[in-house]
Amino acid sequence: QTGKFTYDPGFMSTAACNSAITYIDGEKGELLHRGYPIEQLAVHGDFLDVCHLLLKGDLPNLEQKREFSELVTKHTMVHEQMQFFFRGFRRDSHPMAVLTGCVGALSAFYHDSLNINDARHREVSAIRLIAKLPTLVAMAYKYNTGMPFVYPLNELSYSANFMRMMFANPCEEYKINDVLVRALDRILILHADHEQNASTSTVRLAGSSGANPFACVAAGIACLWGPAHGGANEAALNMLEEIGSPERIPEFIRQVKDKQSSVKLMGFGHRVYKNYDPRAKLMRETCHDVLEELGLHDEPLFKLAMELEKIALEDEYFVSRKLYPNVDFYSGIVQRALGIPTSMFTCIFAMARTIGWIAQWNEMISEPDQKIGRPRQLFVGQTPREAKPIEQR
Ligand code: SDX
Repeated sequence: QTGKFTYDPGFMSTAACNSAITYIDGEKGELLHRGYPIEQLAVHGDFLDVCHLLLKGDLPNLEQKREFSELVTKHTMVHEQMQFFFRGFRRDSHPMAVLTGCVGALSAFYHDSLNINDARHREVSAIRLIAKLPTLVAMAYKYNTGMPFVYPLNELSYSANFMRMMFANPCEEYKINDVLVRALDRILILHADHEQNASTSTVRLAGSSGANPFACVAAGIACLWGPAHGGANEAALNMLEEIGSPERIPEFIRQVKDKQSSVKLMGFGHRVYKNYDPRAKLMRETCHDVLEELGLHDEPLFKLAMELEKIALEDEYFVSRKLYPNVDFYSGIVQRALGIPTSMFTCIFAMARTIGWIAQWNEMISEPDQKIGRPRQLFVGQTPREAKPIEQR
């Protein structure tokens, strides 16, 4: 019994930590952040409201919202020297490689917020990371495309600022499209935090040694990149493009079911959800709404994804293994509609998840008896034996 939630003793013994930030019920397909169901946050909040909720414990009132938004806005620029890190990368480097390196490099610039035992320093680090990730992600995209970097424009909202840094160029006026900005804000909310997933556990373990928060978030970005985790949104879109048309779905499903093949239905399945991921449902709705508003209701990839989902959810292989769409199944199609290229999808995921990582890091460091993490193992190797000189080996 932990307050309002009861767990069976077996589960309690495997839990990595206590946390009050996010609650998931995998069987029911429920996700709550500090007690608020994700469905309500997706409708009522904007992303910075959710950042305030995850970091400080509740949704902001008007005055708190103004203050928090002003604080984040003040930190959107990165040190001018940061741009030279980009020049060290090949232009065709994967943006996640660039982001991992540049976020880690923030440790070299912001010494005045590195005393992790000081709650104020921890909050300033969190604000800096929330504020600078969009700037670095947009810079990674601009570098990749050979276009000039665009500085933040602080009169804009968080998501509008990001869209402008991504797509504006000095030769013409950039017009903010509110449909795209609202959709991006929804995507960021749906990716903000998710309990002890692999990348959050990476950030916690790195942070437990006392490493600085910028380095810990860089470790989280590296873990998120994997196709079994955050890299799945890029892989899911590539999979849909490879399938190409509904007629080819049966052959694809056959390959997935073939024990000899390593083909997976990317964007399906989850370590915790053995029911529909509530974020996938909201992402599909966002996808539908954005495509409708943009006059793209016949978007072939969206129709293909829905047909693939329908067939899979009626197929014994997926039903018996409780495999449902997860947050990554539809997110690539929405991002594509926003003009974001496939190679940037996981960077968007990292930008959103930064608040989850840093809120969980802060929660852990704030614990009075916080100790370094030290997972143990079952040793399955050699029994003790004697080393022989090389002539006798
Ligand atoms: C994220 O943890 C989080 O909260 C992560 C995340 C977050 O917000 O942080 O939600 C974000 O990472 C979502 C997951 C994104 N990854 C993918 O979509 C990649 C495809 N999915 C699979 O790799 C897999 O489903 C995992 C890794 C997500 C979960 O793996 P599990 O739960 O450990 O499942 P498993 O490997 O034990 O598989 C059980 C069975 C196996 O078949 P059998 O050996 O029993 O015959 O289901 C099969 C698997 O082969 N299976 C799949 C499948 N996922 C599992 N078969 C085909 N396609 C899939 N996607």
